[in-house]
Amino acid sequence: MDDDLGAVLRHYESGREELRLSAGLGELELVRTQEVLRRHLPPPPATILDIGGGTGVHAAWLLAAGYTVRLLDLSPRHVARALADLGADGLTADVADARRLPADDDSVDAALLLGPLYHLVGPADRLATLAEARRVGRPGAVVAVAAISRFASLFDGLARGFLFDPDFRTIVRQDLADGRHVNPRDDPRWFTTAFFHRPEELRDELDAAGLAIVELVGVEGLAGWLGHLADRWTDEHARTVILEAARVIESEPTLLGLSAHLLAVGRVVP
Ligand SMILES: C[S@@+](CC[C@H](N)C(=O)[O-])C[C@H]1O[C@@H](n2cnc3c(N)ncnc32)[C@H](O)[C@@H]1O
Repeated sequence: MDDDLGAVLRHYESGREELRLSAGLGELELVRTQEVLRRHLPPPPATILDIGGGTGVHAAWLLAAGYTVRLLDLSPRHVARALADLGADGLTADVADARRLPADDDSVDAALLLGPLYHLVGPADRLATLAEARRVGRPGAVVAVAAISRFASLFDGLARGFLFDPDFRTIVRQDLADGRHVNPRDDPRWFTTAFFHRPEELRDELDAAGLAIVELVGVEGLAGWLGHLADRWTDEHARTVILEAARVIESEPTLLGLSAHLLAVGRVVP
């Protein structure tokens, strides 16, 4: 395994990320991602390949909705955790690299890439990953791809105070310059090796892989950076307001890069 992915694997095998989408405002990313996916997924029963599916955060609700899920992930820890938590009813889970999928051509109704693309720093690796998702999708299959915004570390650094640390500012300068995010001392407070996309780069990469773009949205909007909203998230009415605030600007071109995550939905064209 190359050095970049070695750092990624160490990060996930350490267990650092496992509560990311379940605590406080972390749920905003999950709920908004579900919302966008539900617009495009075929109705169950259908087979969904969850590439970089982690511990099964998305597999869980997809299984509950009646889909068959094949989860693949680089991290043996995540695959074991998904199988232990979700059981084998409707689910298979295996260790695999998104760049070389152990799946037949035209074999799935939808493919999720909610993680691997933003951990591949080299453009050829990202293209190979998108091409693999396209290869395994049946004609018309949905391919949903998450990216991290080019500006995420700048905003996160401001919101959480890391930007006042000169080491973090050095990382952010590199992120902004070319999207290559490296955490040189593997500081556990900060994210591991990644590539941070501009919205137009994500669009171009799907295009280059031959995927027809259905939509590209910002996931969390401004709310994702406002930590004080975590208290409000527990109130049902406030939650609908926060979600609407993200939804209303999700396609606004001037604000796409504001969200921590971008979500592109493509289709395999026959
Ligand atoms: C931030 S987590 C996201 C997990 C889940 N998809 C979600 O949305 O919550 C990124 C996941 O991608 C996996 N991953 C990173 N690079 C990968 C690759 N090249 N092939 C397969 N999985 C990869 C990691 O092991 C990790 O589980």
